[in-house]
Amino acid sequence: MCGIVGYIGARSAPDVVMGGLKKLEYRGYDSAGVAVLKNGRFSIRRNSGKLHYLEETLRERPLSGHIAIGHTRWATHGAPTEANAHPHMSMNGRIVVVHNGIVENFIPLRDELQAEGVVFQSDTDTEVIVQLVERYVEAGEGLETAVRYTIAQLKGASAIVVVSRDNPNVMYCARLGNAGGIAIGLGEDEIFLASDIPAILEYTRDMIFLENRQMARLERDGCHVTDLEGVPMAVETHRIAWDPVSAAKGEYKHFMQKEIFDQPRAIIDTIGGRVDFENGTVSLPEMNLTPELVGNIKKLIIIACGTSYYSGLVGKVMIESIARLPTEVVYASEFRYADPIVDEETAVLTITQSGETADTLAAAELAKSRGATMWTIVNALGSQSMRLSHGHISMHAGPEIGVASTKAFTTSLVDQYMLACVLGQMRGTVTPEQGRELVAGLAQLPDLVGQALEQDEAYAALASRFYKTENFLYLGRGANYPVAREGALKLKEISYIHAEGYPAGEMKHGPIALIDETMPVFAVVTQDHLYDKMISQVRQAKARGGVVIAVATAGDEVIGGEVDYVVTVPLAPPLLAPVVNVIPMQLFAYHVAVRRGADVDQPRNLAKSVTVE
Ligand code: AGP
Repeated sequence: MCGIVGYIGARSAPDVVMGGLKKLEYRGYDSAGVAVLKNGRFSIRRNSGKLHYLEETLRERPLSGHIAIGHTRWATHGAPTEANAHPHMSMNGRIVVVHNGIVENFIPLRDELQAEGVVFQSDTDTEVIVQLVERYVEAGEGLETAVRYTIAQLKGASAIVVVSRDNPNVMYCARLGNAGGIAIGLGEDEIFLASDIPAILEYTRDMIFLENRQMARLERDGCHVTDLEGVPMAVETHRIAWDPVSAAKGEYKHFMQKEIFDQPRAIIDTIGGRVDFENGTVSLPEMNLTPELVGNIKKLIIIACGTSYYSGLVGKVMIESIARLPTEVVYASEFRYADPIVDEETAVLTITQSGETADTLAAAELAKSRGATMWTIVNALGSQSMRLSHGHISMHAGPEIGVASTKAFTTSLVDQYMLACVLGQMRGTVTPEQGRELVAGLAQLPDLVGQALEQDEAYAALASRFYKTENFLYLGRGANYPVAREGALKLKEISYIHAEGYPAGEMKHGPIALIDETMPVFAVVTQDHLYDKMISQVRQAKARGGVVIAVATAGDEVIGGEVDYVVTVPLAPPLLAPVVNVIPMQLFAYHVAVRRGADVDQPRNLAKSVTVE
């Protein structure tokens, strides 16, 4: 994830920006930069590496001025070099941009601009933004129109800030999808912006949060928010409380809600620096994989608990399908007391948000003692799970405070997908063409998750209809069967409603006896090779008087005639669809819990990290 800060006002703008970046360094630290506009000229300082290198540079070559933008980067496209650090400047030095997100279609846009004679200075996707804005300005458009025209050409989720030397008292920012928020801080004759409120909270408590597909013109005396067509939008100013917990929740009521909405950003960070979209390859250096090691592995065992276990069930489908490596998934609490068949030709992958779950660690120790190669997918860096492993993949989810796991689920799915790609590359089961197709799916993912999140009101409406229901059946097939189980777990743990997650084809072998009008069925019926099978299982439930809610693909004209309630998600590549399809489950459970007055972030009897047996 990247961090963005901007300022216009009487203070020293580079100092405000640097102070804010320090509070955002957790979001990315492979390079950083700041640009100041003074006397119609931009001065830029950039460094690779952590922020303190930039601080040293600024001590040696200080900047002064009253309008500045800065950025701390977590690389997605292009190595973490100084040339790839933000801010980026257009070819003629007119425009400066910082950006957080992924421009999915940067390759055709870059090719088009290069054909027109633009010379690119970096390997980043961001640079197409700054060059496009300049192209429109040079063609005679005003800055605001140029920004709007540029945004209209971008695919994917992005947060963007633009400054032009021709408009010295103005800053434009825009949010496209959910690549991370933009908080605009309103001061007395000064204005701030940042990716996250702690960066600017010492100056102001009055914040406006830019919504998806909104842009804002910032000047010292305030901001003007429009949609991307330029139509003015009424916005609410939030007064942020000073206490650190409320400040950390920002515009959200609960951490779980914030973490659900943080997923596009978290996924961007998970992908960041690991995927070469042009060559269709993935690299996971912390896994320490060698051709000999991978060549020696005959089977994979995924070990985890709870949500992480369900993530592993999806991972099995990904890894077997892409890398053709036989994979089993076992509950850690079962594995540790079994007599598992594990040897030097076995790889064991633990999945754990906390990295400290007692059952998972005990299972890992057992597997390691039997000679397995140990890998872990983990969110808490430096945790015991990492210390027990030969290689790891970081979830990059950021802090997950809500006890109900959400972004650790989706980011660990992305990690397993990338692992499947790497194993596929090394085992020769993925051709370069297939590799390009697989990673193209990853590039779309943050935006697809963002689109699913936009349906929040539909999930809230559904929750208001069902929050008094005491039993639920969740159904899915293939890669969406674990999504059904995860959906049921979310409802159980935060709403205290009994819910079962089942593979839909198994319903006729028992659970169908439960179905009547008091036990609704929540079914994942999205467009994939099992769609027709899911439709027939939905019909079986309907025939028994069941009330059926379907998570369906947007544009499906059939499903409305088959079920009682439909919520839609965008079409996603089949192996990545669980990342998108789980969003309705998370938001439905969240809204039901809120309606029931439950303690969403700290549900009864549970702990975030289960360090006891
Ligand atoms: C999920 O919402 C739960 N809170 C729980 O199932 C959790 O996923 C499980 O305890 C595993 O935790 P870990 O990922 O930290 O190992």
